[in-house]
Amino acid sequence: MKYAIPAFSCLLSVGLCLYSVVAQAQPVSKTPPAIVRSSCYMCHSTHGNDPDLAFIPRLAAQNQVYIEEQLKAFRDGSRADPPATIYMWPIAQGLSEKQIKQAAEWFATQAPAEPFPPGSSASEGRAIFLNGVLKADVPACASCHGPQADGNGIFPRLAGQNAQYLLAQLRYFRSGVRNDKNADIMKQVALHLSDSQMNAVANYLSSL
Ligand code: HEC
Ligand code: HEC
Repeated sequence: MKYAIPAFSCLLSVGLCLYSVVAQAQPVSKTPPAIVRSSCYMCHSTHGNDPDLAFIPRLAAQNQVYIEEQLKAFRDGSRADPPATIYMWPIAQGLSEKQIKQAAEWFATQAPAEPFPPGSSASEGRAIFLNGVLKADVPACASCHGPQADGNGIFPRLAGQNAQYLLAQLRYFRSGVRNDKNADIMKQVALHLSDSQMNAVANYLSSL
């Protein structure tokens, strides 16, 4: 670990450890579960890959464990950023464990969406993603989210995600309003990022 803060080395080793042990073998179902057909599709689209609404995250190929964790965080109210409280809280309240699992499994096994065209700051974003910002004690995003940004387990896939959504989430981690049980790891990262660095890295990620 070549990062400056000892707390980070610790977080990172936990992260990398989890990163390496969580396996990803899932059966692929062709029929969306009832909960996706009756609810999720309205905003996320049936396959989780609709690019039209920038503040709604793409769920296609997102990690199953991460999706389940977030649905529980919406349900218990710990993920409390404004769009979460408005859109996802009412839906998550009514979800059973079985529906959470079924929806998560469905979206996790869908093909990733088409990436977005890279914005002008994407090359700065790439450097942050791969190397971090040493002077500001920002670790490389790739060390937890994976070199292709496809994540694993509790570490979300970021590749091909809407830039506007990613940028908003980085701000919510920084302000502490997104406060679910794994959010503190990201708060430590986001606290040291400037708005323009957040924008650059979000632009880069949406183009992967
Ligand atoms: C009324 C629109 C709407 C519906 C219906 C909806 N969502 Fe969402 N969902 C959103 C929005 C908006 C967000 C972004 C919340 C935020 O910014 O914190 C979101 C976020 C999420 C996230 C977090 C993704 C991430 O990358 O962290 C998951 C998982 C999710 N929704 C799953 C579902 C599932 C499963 C269903 C169906 C049971 C569903 N959603 C139904 C609007 C909706
Ligand atoms: C030490 C490990 C670690 C590092 C380093 C890290 N992340 Fe994360 N990141 C996480 C975890 C864990 C989560 C899930 C947090 C949660 O569940 O609330 C996350 C979530 C996110 C999300 C929310 C995605 C979504 O779908 O809502 C974004 C955006 C993000 N990270 C971007 C970054 C960027 C950009 C960097 C580099 C500047 C970075 N991360 C570095 C561990 C890390």
